[in-house]
Amino acid sequence: MTMLDVQDIHVHYGAIHALKGVSLKVEAGTIVTLIGANGAGKSTTLRALSGLLPLSTGAIDFIGQSIGGRPVHKIVRDGLCHCPEGRKVFPQLTVKANLELGAYIRHDKTGIKSDLEQIYQLFPRLKERLSQAAGTLSGGEQQMLAIGRSLMGRPRLLMLDEPSLGIAPLLVQEIFRTIKKINAEQKMTILLVEQNAHMALKIADHGYVLETGKVVLSGKASDLAADPRIKAAYLGH
Ligand SMILES: Nc1ncnc2c1ncn2[C@@H]1O[C@H](COP(=O)(O)OP(=O)(O)O)[C@@H](O)[C@H]1O
Ligand SMILES: [Mg+2]
Repeated sequence: MTMLDVQDIHVHYGAIHALKGVSLKVEAGTIVTLIGANGAGKSTTLRALSGLLPLSTGAIDFIGQSIGGRPVHKIVRDGLCHCPEGRKVFPQLTVKANLELGAYIRHDKTGIKSDLEQIYQLFPRLKERLSQAAGTLSGGEQQMLAIGRSLMGRPRLLMLDEPSLGIAPLLVQEIFRTIKKINAEQKMTILLVEQNAHMALKIADHGYVLETGKVVLSGKASDLAADPRIKAAYLGH
């Protein structure tokens, strides 16, 4: 089943034409990565998908429904969760309170409790720091918290914006392993935006390459990783 079908979307910031016809598909149960250099339009794409930015033209279908132009809170309830660039945890609140806030659209107390347990298993570092203010966590730990908080909303599609940005390499590896685990164990569908093409293509099933607001290449992640154009431009060899 195609979970997300993005058709030829255009987005402007005033006079700046940031997305110039982006099309992509995400099949249920897969990890799809959108890679590209700084400024290519990756975050703009996610903001448009989650309803934070209006489309100039184009269409977005999510689980068979058109969501282009729908307000953000409705899109969240439809099951599309956007874990933003820069993590955006609530620094003064504890780790536990941040996680609980992720479940704000839910009322199933026992489900929430068991999901918390699941997140502690995925991220043992969070469990050790539950009563600590989120702002005192390292960057990598805050990223784990942001992902955990997103999972607490039980989304159908999890969109992650540059989970590796500004994080120590060892923690990046841990985070990517966990993203893969979430996909494998929970059958979570994931749209992963990354500048770190090497890591992203390793865990993704399918990939799209964005350059100045356009998709210039797409295919199986393993094919992209082996493609000489990708190697030269994004993989540094
Ligand atoms: N709020 C904004 N106002 C004006 N231009 C913006 C804004 N946000 C992003 N842009 C521009 O849109 C383009 C795409 O940005 P962005 O989607 O953030 O790229 P990426 O996430 O791939 O680094 C860039 O040229 C950027 O300068
Ligand atoms: Mg970005």
